[in-house]
Amino acid sequence: MRYLMSLMILSLWGINSMAEAGIRESDFDSIKLYEMKNAKGMVVKVTNYGAIITSIQVPDRHGKMADVALGYDNVESYMNAVDKPYFGSIVGRYGNRIAKGKFTIDGEEYKLAVNNGENHLHGGVIGFDKVVWNAQELKVKNGTSLQLTYTAKDGEEGYPGELSVTVTYTLTNDNSLRVDYKATTTKATHVNLTQHTYFNLKGEGNGDILDHELMLNASRYTPVDAGLIPTGELADVKGTPFDYTTAKPIGRDINEAHQQLEFGGGFDHNWVIDRPEGNTGLVLAARVTEPQSGRVLEIETTEPGIQFYCGNFLDGRLKGKSGKEYVHRGGFCLETQHYPDSPNQPNFPSTLLKPGETYSTTTVFHFKTAK
Ligand code: GLA
Repeated sequence: MRYLMSLMILSLWGINSMAEAGIRESDFDSIKLYEMKNAKGMVVKVTNYGAIITSIQVPDRHGKMADVALGYDNVESYMNAVDKPYFGSIVGRYGNRIAKGKFTIDGEEYKLAVNNGENHLHGGVIGFDKVVWNAQELKVKNGTSLQLTYTAKDGEEGYPGELSVTVTYTLTNDNSLRVDYKATTTKATHVNLTQHTYFNLKGEGNGDILDHELMLNASRYTPVDAGLIPTGELADVKGTPFDYTTAKPIGRDINEAHQQLEFGGGFDHNWVIDRPEGNTGLVLAARVTEPQSGRVLEIETTEPGIQFYCGNFLDGRLKGKSGKEYVHRGGFCLETQHYPDSPNQPNFPSTLLKPGETYSTTTVFHFKTAK
């Protein structure tokens, strides 16, 4: 039997009212929801509003499907969500925080939108998670791809340079969701793109994620100050609650007395991925196993860091697509990225992109099951 890979445009996600921010009325008609399905029945839904992954349906060890991505079934909920959780979105132009919303390139200081205390977070007030992207289906071998493009203006949210961004989601028959990021600029600028899906491998809305077992391939992390800006130190995780080098339940050490856990309200930190010297390809960054269902998520990336955020700001006020409350720590994010505040941290790997260069990173989310 020939298996069909398919990409379907499910519906127009047009809306009637003007939302809070981030979208022009003329864009409403162009918001769509796309469905990618592979030969094994795995389904991924993506909207071109914010390049958001709205749903990921994967099997458990008995083949029972569940949607493991937190999110909504309509675009208005994404636009109006309180506390801006960034469910499922592509975050940019700079994912994570930049201290005081400032950086200097070639002696010139740039002031960015300040939207997180005194700092800049996730690209500003209208980041890439709140704009409408162009979407196009691509035919690829052994999979289905959706290519999303967006051009950010020179000066948008304070960043220099017109930035042309391409994000390609590819669903393959081995239950992998590959995300390829590319960008070019007209002026030197800082770029750090990431994917902000919240996962709950029991299924979205099914309680908290504290009993999921997490392994992070990282023997160091970047400690932060009270505003979650890195101090510049790369600290050893050994002997601290931050040691996930051997798999352990997410919640095992989360309540230990540790200043870093106080600052984050739990885990909300960047880990430094262990990478063999000279290797610039995909390396395993994280593995998460949910014991009850047997669902496993493995993340490979070309990036140097991964922000592990365990949904500390969720508090049950947001209700998801199936009507269930997203409780405190009801989802975890593993955001592959460069380290936070890299533009102001000379010892961190650089996020500077110059005209003529191409920003290019890849992250793969691989879904499996365990006995
Ligand atoms: C990131 C940040 C968190 C929080 C979430 C969104 O993971 O590090 O502090 O802002 O995004 O709620």
